[in-house]
Amino acid sequence: MTKIIAVYGSPRRKGNTSLLLKKAVQGAREGAEVEEVVLRDLQISPCLEIYGCKEKGRCVIQDDFQGVLDRFEASQGIMLASPIFFYAVSAHTKMLIERCQSLWVKKYWIEKIPYGEGKPKRKGLFISVGATKGKKLFDGALLTVKYFFDVLDTELWKALLNRGLDFEGDVLKHPEYLEEAYIAGKEICREIEMMKQ
Ligand SMILES: Cc1cc2nc3c(=O)[nH]c(=O)nc-3n(C[C@H](O)[C@H](O)[C@H](O)COP(=O)(O)O)c2cc1C
Repeated sequence: MTKIIAVYGSPRRKGNTSLLLKKAVQGAREGAEVEEVVLRDLQISPCLEIYGCKEKGRCVIQDDFQGVLDRFEASQGIMLASPIFFYAVSAHTKMLIERCQSLWVKKYWIEKIPYGEGKPKRKGLFISVGATKGKKLFDGALLTVKYFFDVLDTELWKALLNRGLDFEGDVLKHPEYLEEAYIAGKEICREIEMMKQ
């Protein structure tokens, strides 16, 4: 059965991105086994830049990142949700992403895959919200997520980006956003099925 990992990157358990990701999980569970990872419950150090990963392409820092990585590797889909903090992803999300430098080392230094020639093995959905309405609100986060997904051989299949949401639960005033997330959860399963063929 298709396995999807859903990563909650907000410090708020019932915040806007969490509510949206919950809906996507609900949709995805109609066609896949979905495992949820709440980053604020985990102990994950940022990258310490010691390059212990140079030997085997695996991060040597022993903390909760190791379990998350195992789950990524066993999955065919990743659904990541992070609010916009200072025009970037949240610190919880960024720490997880930095630790995936070990995968960058594996792919581009150890296995020497020419950039852009790796075949995607996974489909990725990114969910984000911000309080303001600026045109470039998601630009920084989108670049970060694109390169994060690349080291996980994951194609950024869809990004659901909603502006103007600030207080906890603001997204509940927009059932259309929640519906869109639910549909995206359902669709990512179909996309994965097509990718497997
Ligand atoms: C530390 C911090 C930084 C933020 N930076 C931005 C920002 O740069 N732009 C913006 O539009 N909103 C910013 N916000 C507002 C959040 O993006 C907004 O409240 C969002 O709804 C939070 O999502 P969540 O409920 O999923 O955590 C910031 C909030 C915090 C706490």
